Amino acid sequence: MEKEFWEKRYETHQTGWDLGQASPPLMELMKKITNKDAKILIPGCGSAHEAKALMELGFSNLWLIDISEKAVQQIQSQLPHFPSDHLICADFFEWEEKDFDVILEQTFFCAILPESRTRYAQNMHQKLKSGGILQGVLFDREFVGGPPFGGSAQDYEKIFKPYFDFILWESCPCSIPPRANTELWFQLKRKD
Ligand SMILES: C[S@@+](CC[C@H](N)C(=O)[O-])C[C@H]1O[C@@H](n2cnc3c(N)ncnc32)[C@H](O)[C@@H]1O
Repeated sequence: MEKEFWEKRYETHQTGWDLGQASPPLMELMKKITNKDAKILIPGCGSAHEAKALMELGFSNLWLIDISEKAVQQIQSQLPHFPSDHLICADFFEWEEKDFDVILEQTFFCAILPESRTRYAQNMHQKLKSGGILQGVLFDREFVGGPPFGGSAQDYEKIFKPYFDFILWESCPCSIPPRANTELWFQLKRKD
């Protein structure tokens, strides 16, 4: 989707995806990451509630990227101490920073066009260091129109299999109530 599309969603406050809090499944998955200096990326970060929660837990090397200037400005005002060189306003697919230990996914995959999904998997693979982890949640349901664009665990498996080993890939037990039984939570390890 175009940058203008997302900018308009923020300007008109049509941000129904925003949980208003750190995502419970993402925070649960982060319990498995014990290295507080791990280089962590949240792509299509939106309001980045998880960044605040992860900073409070002591994670020290967080990176945020969103294509929307409005979203990034909101983060700047809500998290004034977040390092400005780690808060990026750019198209994820055009940005070249890499060597991440962990990348967190929540409603970024479903925000991009389904024909870009292979490119998404390739980019995640390129941005992770050897043994790096892509983890988070994916919608395991269809939607009318989009974004969000839905799909199934079987569809997604084919996209990620060439690039990742599957550590966790199952129905999410701790989704927020409106998303219960419609999310897959996953942890994928970068293949060398
Ligand atoms: C559905 S929202 C999800 C926001 C956040 N992850 C959340 O769960 O609250 C999708 C986000 O991805 C951003 N986005 C869309 N395409 C992008 C791209 N190519 N590069 C970076 N960010 C993008 C949008 O601006 C928007 O903030």
